[in-house]
Amino acid sequence: MVGNDLSLDYSLCMGAAIGDRGGLTEDDLATIADRATAAADAVAERVNHGELGFWQLPGDAAGIEAVEAVVHALPEAAREVLVLGIGGSSLGAQALLEALLPPRFETAPAASPRRLHFFDNSDPFRLAHALEALDPRHCAMVVVSKSGGTVETAAQLRVVRPWIEAALGEEAATRCIAVTDPEHGALRKEATNAGWQTLPIPSNVGGRFSVLGAAGLLPARLAELDARALLRGAGRMAERCRTNVLHENPALMLAALCHLHDRARGHHIDVLMPYSDRLRAFSAWFVQLWAESLGKRKDHQGQTVEVGPTPLTAVGATDQHAQMQLFMEGPRDKLLLFVAIADAERDLTIPHSDGPGAYLGGHGMAELLDAERRGTTQALASDGRPSLTLSLPRLDADGLGQLFFFFEAATAFAGELYGINAFDQPGVELGKRLAFGLLGRQGYEEAGREIEAALSARPEGYRID
Ligand code: PA5
Repeated sequence: MVGNDLSLDYSLCMGAAIGDRGGLTEDDLATIADRATAAADAVAERVNHGELGFWQLPGDAAGIEAVEAVVHALPEAAREVLVLGIGGSSLGAQALLEALLPPRFETAPAASPRRLHFFDNSDPFRLAHALEALDPRHCAMVVVSKSGGTVETAAQLRVVRPWIEAALGEEAATRCIAVTDPEHGALRKEATNAGWQTLPIPSNVGGRFSVLGAAGLLPARLAELDARALLRGAGRMAERCRTNVLHENPALMLAALCHLHDRARGHHIDVLMPYSDRLRAFSAWFVQLWAESLGKRKDHQGQTVEVGPTPLTAVGATDQHAQMQLFMEGPRDKLLLFVAIADAERDLTIPHSDGPGAYLGGHGMAELLDAERRGTTQALASDGRPSLTLSLPRLDADGLGQLFFFFEAATAFAGELYGINAFDQPGVELGKRLAFGLLGRQGYEEAGREIEAALSARPEGYRID
């Protein structure tokens, strides 16, 4: 461990602290230790066979150099960057920028010379407003899609590309960057034909595991963030997650604790609750990673298992005034994952005053936030409700890199403990197929008929107009 390393305190997961009703026993940990070791070995084997490319991203020196070359080649006039992509091709980058850039207020000078705008939906509202508000002559477009065929991203691209081209003519090609599969897919073809700069998402890196590759590093460098420090932190965490010894590997321990609480104590919901505004988007990234990776119908043998913890997000202290009532007194089905950042970087001392708030005088707001976190944690524990706490000395690029890799590794380990493939997402295919059918896409005629028939067969009398 070095100065800024993440630590995991799981004492309040244990019956010794919170009672046996909600807490785990030493026997529980002993029982899962061998399975955890086998899970870590299975992940290591897949890494060694080149199947899990995310594990290598922190050490990919050529990757970050390629990103920097692309950023260097982007004309300075391109100060507003529209970043198109969805799911794993967007959430990581959004989390990165929110955590590491100072918040921006309209009247404040820019924190970085470029502004990035993320569009991760086919809802036209924000994009339509952006195209009205921005001057395309000052814009660049980054389109991120591993497959190159995702419908939401394809639709955004079809709208934004002509908007930039109409304003810039041939120069538009210098403003468009595609991050996609190195060889395959419609986007790769389009980018090559148009002469755009491109960066690869390696074929063995899935979207939700791609933040430490070009999908995250390009937006990070465009915003002038320290991507190398991010990779350094991630690389150190990758080293810590290499051991197959449960009590020495923090991500393996997280996976084991969540699995045990889910299967042995009925705590099916994992609530990530950072006490930091800067980790709101990170929480959304976690939800996607945990849900899309672990929610699966079939196990490795093809048997129906229908497993997966439900991820939820909350932000401290905001959600103490929203969801905490439910966490404290509602169903005993949750494990709280708190995140504490020791150094708030900016603090405000509350001035002394008379009246109702006098007790706050002289305290820092960061101290207040931390006291609220500790009070909440203990309140849950006193009622036998489990939690664990991840602590980081600082939320800088190095710390964030650790957090990203920690959860990615934990997801891979948890997948093995559940006996499922954490790296596919078959459950989202049917909905896409049916939507294509409704849009009349060639090759989806049968799906179109299927959904039309299903819609017209819905029972009547169950709607209020
Ligand atoms: O994590 C995943 O694999 C998904 O969420 C994808 O990132 C998302 O569906 C977007 O896919 P693509 O990058 O191919 O456009």
